[in-house]
Amino acid sequence: MSRRAHSSSPPSSPRLAKRPRLDFEPLTSEDYKNGIVLAPMVRSGALPTRLYALKHGASLVWGPETIDKAILHTTREVDPSTGVISYVGKTKAIFTTHPIEKPYLIYQIGSSDPETAVQAAKMVMQDVAGFDLNCGCPKPFSTHAGMGAALLSNPDLLCSILTSLREAMPPEISISAKIRLLPTQEETLKLVERIIDTGVSALTVHCRTRSMRKREPVLIERLREIVEFVERLGRGVAVIENGDCEGFEDALRIRQVTGAHSVMIATAAEANPTCFSPTPLVDLEKTFIPAYIRLCKHLNNHWSSTKFCTSQFKGPHVTASKADLKAIRDAIQHAKCYEDMDAHAVPWTGEEEFQEIVNVLESRRRPYAPLLLPPTNSTTETFETQSQQDEMQISQNTTPVEVDDDLKTPPIGTPDPSVLRAPLMPANELRMPMPAFITGELTTPTPTPSASQSTMFLV
Ligand SMILES: Cc1cc2nc3c(=O)[nH]c(=O)nc-3n(C[C@H](O)[C@H](O)[C@H](O)COP(=O)(O)O)c2cc1C
Repeated sequence: MSRRAHSSSPPSSPRLAKRPRLDFEPLTSEDYKNGIVLAPMVRSGALPTRLYALKHGASLVWGPETIDKAILHTTREVDPSTGVISYVGKTKAIFTTHPIEKPYLIYQIGSSDPETAVQAAKMVMQDVAGFDLNCGCPKPFSTHAGMGAALLSNPDLLCSILTSLREAMPPEISISAKIRLLPTQEETLKLVERIIDTGVSALTVHCRTRSMRKREPVLIERLREIVEFVERLGRGVAVIENGDCEGFEDALRIRQVTGAHSVMIATAAEANPTCFSPTPLVDLEKTFIPAYIRLCKHLNNHWSSTKFCTSQFKGPHVTASKADLKAIRDAIQHAKCYEDMDAHAVPWTGEEEFQEIVNVLESRRRPYAPLLLPPTNSTTETFETQSQQDEMQISQNTTPVEVDDDLKTPPIGTPDPSVLRAPLMPANELRMPMPAFITGELTTPTPTPSASQSTMFLV
């Protein structure tokens, strides 16, 4: 726990001198670089989508914007059989996560008040790697309360929220901001400099102005100057391009045009969470949607969320017949619960889908990530880094992947006491035991997938 966040005792206190054991390396600016990241998406950026994005190569994932006040009155509940952590409000979970995504999870806050933002951050800090402030949402529900894109015209407030978060959070929690372009480049650079001065690790620039609509093409030609400006400031802050990226190949193009350190994807990932991979899945109705539904059932994801997300999935059709596609689409449309999907999702092997994701995440470790983009200063011909080549090999390989010991994530360790004190949801004894690296019971071997389960990337 943070000294600053949780105690007013003097720093000399012996109790406070003891620092907690971190269960993963904290994020630095470097971890925001050379990657393709999943954008914050209300409704669409649900936990199962984030897990699949990570499995298929997203280097970090942003959670959906959560308004600061909304999380304050929630109760943290942990499902002991799946490990899913839910922040439950009066009627529903406001935010849901899982410890396996924690090293990669950026929680996005909607706020117009520094104190409330800090209170909200303290509520969830044990479950996330970083916080991002939404300074780009142009929707009236956000702007009328001074949040989102309204902060762009109130830089004092915007920066005081970031400063307060930076001061209140321990150093191992990173802070970032997501903005839109201001009408002129000069104003944008001024704002960017102020934001960088608050101590953020990364800045995402959605390359549209506040008044631009989604159908209007992004102004990525304005980004290079911003990136170079940030680099000249010398703090090492990562600049992430956002807007109109279609997937892995496109991210390479965008980086070439803009010089951005990383690229963030929303709409294309909403349609296909595997788009981060150089070999994204096709025929999603056959290859991806059934697996996604199985994982959702295993994680007890609310059916309405699963139904909404699956109804957004679309991708190229290569071998699937029109009849196949229509059958599953119709079934999803009419289904009222998971059991209504039996014909398409049986056998319900959600544990295996989950285990495959655990395996992939165990096999990567920051700053290594399977789909790192080449550094911005490398030549464009050398697109495929070793890790990308490895990943492509993995994606074509149906045999279990041998993971070098050096690349294994260190055990995550015993859940922190706050996890154990959290109210527990009813256990489901039929569930697969939690992997040892999550429970910390190192005498229990992590379940080993059978050969048939080890078809990574061939869900
Ligand atoms: C379904 C959906 C939900 C979104 N929710 C958020 C959000 O919670 N916070 C945010 O900053 N932006 C949100 N956005 C905007 C995206 O993060 C992103 O800035 C924008 O869509 C441009 O990226 P794209 O061209 O890849 O879609 C959302 C976009 C979509 C499509």
